[in-house]
Amino acid sequence: MLAQTPEITEIILAAAEKARQETRDAPDHPRLSRLRWPQECTIGPGLEGAIACETKIGYVNGAKGWLVYRGYDIFELCAYSTFEEVSYLLLHGDLPSVDELAEYKRKLTRYQHLNQTLRLLVSFPVEEMNAMGALRMGTIFMRQEFTTMDREGGRPAVDDAIGADEDSIAMETKPFGEEHAIYEFKARRRSRRKSAAMDASGMEACYHLIAGVATITAAIARVRRGLLPIEPDPELSFAANLYYMIHGRRPTPFQERILDICLILHADHGMNASTFAALVVASTLSDFYLSIGSGIAALSGPLHGGANEQVINTLREIGSSAGVSNWMHMAMVKKKKISGFGHRVYKAYDPRARVLGPLAAYGIERSTPEIINLFDTARELEKQVLRSFGTEKKIFPNVDFYSGIVYSRLGISPALFTPLFAVSRVAGWTARVLEYLHHNRIFRPRAMYVGEFDRHYVPVDQR
Ligand code: CMC
Repeated sequence: MLAQTPEITEIILAAAEKARQETRDAPDHPRLSRLRWPQECTIGPGLEGAIACETKIGYVNGAKGWLVYRGYDIFELCAYSTFEEVSYLLLHGDLPSVDELAEYKRKLTRYQHLNQTLRLLVSFPVEEMNAMGALRMGTIFMRQEFTTMDREGGRPAVDDAIGADEDSIAMETKPFGEEHAIYEFKARRRSRRKSAAMDASGMEACYHLIAGVATITAAIARVRRGLLPIEPDPELSFAANLYYMIHGRRPTPFQERILDICLILHADHGMNASTFAALVVASTLSDFYLSIGSGIAALSGPLHGGANEQVINTLREIGSSAGVSNWMHMAMVKKKKISGFGHRVYKAYDPRARVLGPLAAYGIERSTPEIINLFDTARELEKQVLRSFGTEKKIFPNVDFYSGIVYSRLGISPALFTPLFAVSRVAGWTARVLEYLHHNRIFRPRAMYVGEFDRHYVPVDQR
């Protein structure tokens, strides 16, 4: 895939060079020494500035617009690596050897089969549910996949297996594309193995979640369109499989590479709200599945991962590049927060948007008129936001601004943008939960009480 798409590598290297040029004067590493607890720091509302823990997983330099996973610059990983390598890197600390990568891919492929989870999921009206709500529910169901197998000696009971044509499956429409690719819901004979959920290190549960959240997202994408889920194809890469399980056809090398880069870019990002949510739940010694379910819940909000869907709504509301000036005027009068712009940490251009913008632009003339119009509107909006706020308030496009256009070009509908973000971020969430649990301490910050004292109960009929 990488060798077949050299022009995409060129785009990333050009973005990296631009980032270097534009942030040459910003400070590099403000602090990289070990902390001595208790630590004094200045904290703002929303825990701004608070240091929750130490980590070796990722580093964000907001002044420089610099994102690092385990010491590797994000541009370099996008240019030369794959999501499989990057997710392994986040979890294990080093890039995998040839053998380690092969074993990791084998496990991901195995864990992408979610027989019980999908059977449960499609028995709910997924097509009517919020996609992130359905994804969270599916992720929690994944826990069951292993507990039931434990009980049954590693094998699901044959009676539990149902054919794809039974009434209990909500959607009956035949998938288009590859006819025989329907998810079969059959009992799969497996040798007894250690349960992922019970694995002492937690690593197997991390693999299971990284693989499974992709399968669930693809299944939700299909059920929403009245189609049955599709079995993963063991021959395909993670990104290609995700595309295949959504669309029922294999991606071109270009589509596979673009989706792979999106997965790499969204995999981890410091102590963001969803990562923190996952850590808070994990710190109570709850399990990985519930922790990641909490990450998914936090990611869904429009101030966080939900912004990618909001961006498309905004662009549609604006209508065309000619409508941007009027819309901007209204937004500024109403002091509206513009989705896809601004960031708690970045006070420079988000490096992820530096990659996604040019990827959205690449070959845009071959897109549909609707997508070309969205892109032109986005470009004009970026120009006007930078002119109005850029230098003064340091508000730049963030990861969510162009990702929706890139996903739209891959034929993915807006309701699936945030679930796709989650598919990737599971790598960061699980890596950080795993790391945190080594030195776990339950999260328990304080709230400053500013309420009243000395009130006395008055019976309801006397109030
Ligand atoms: N549009 C207009 N003004 C903005 C924006 C924006 N998108 N973001 C921040 N500002 C202004 C804000 O009004 C404030 O101005 P003032 O000082 O005059 O009151 C100043 O910039 C600082 O903003 P803040 O709200 O204190 O910043 P925050 O760190 O609390 O919030 C944010 C960060 C990302 C929630 C916010 O920038 C925002 O709401 N952006 C839009 C939603 C969005 O795109 N979210 C995705 C974030 S990146 C990826 C992810 O996490 O998923």
